[in-house]
Amino acid sequence: MTRAETNRNKCEIALTVNGKAVTVRAYAMERLLDVLRHELGLTGTKEGCGEGECGSCSILMDGKLVNSCLIPALQANGADIVTIEGLAAVERLHALQQAFLECGGAQCGICTPGMILAAHHLMCEEPRPTLDEIREGLSGNLCRCTGYTQILEAVAEAARRGAAT
Ligand code: FES
Ligand code: FES
Repeated sequence: MTRAETNRNKCEIALTVNGKAVTVRAYAMERLLDVLRHELGLTGTKEGCGEGECGSCSILMDGKLVNSCLIPALQANGADIVTIEGLAAVERLHALQQAFLECGGAQCGICTPGMILAAHHLMCEEPRPTLDEIREGLSGNLCRCTGYTQILEAVAEAARRGAAT
C-alpha cells in the first residue's frame, strides 16, 4: 500500500487536548494512547498492560477517568482530553505531583501519571477523601514498585494541602 493510500484510510479527528484544539489523522480503531504518544508527542501517558488492566494509560476524557489503551481514536472525536502534561501550570508542579515527589510516591514512574490523574479525578469529586476513598479511587491503577504506601500518603498529603482547589 502506498503512503497516499495509507493516509486515505485514516480519518480526521478533532479533539481538545490539555485545553488546545488539535486535529490528527488516525485510523478509526487506532488506540487513543498511541495517538497521544506518537501523533501528539504526549509521552507522559504510559503503556503498561495494553489491555485495560493496569491504569498506566489513564487520562481524563470529558471529565471521566478512562484507559486510553481501550479507546479507539474515532471515539475521541470532539472530546475534551486531559493528560498528565495538562495538569501542571507552566514551570510549577501540580500539588499532587509535588506530594508524589516529596512522599516517594514514584519509583520507576510507569504508573505515576495514571495514579496522579486518578487521584486528581477523585479529588475533583471529593476534595478531602478518606484513606479508604483514596484506596478505592486508585483501585484501577496498579504499581509494581512502591507497595502503594507512599502513593496513598502522597495523595493524602496533597488532599491536606487542598490540591483540588
Ligand atoms: S496500558 Fe492501559 S490499562 Fe494498562
Ligand atoms: S512506580 Fe513503578 S510501577 Fe509504580
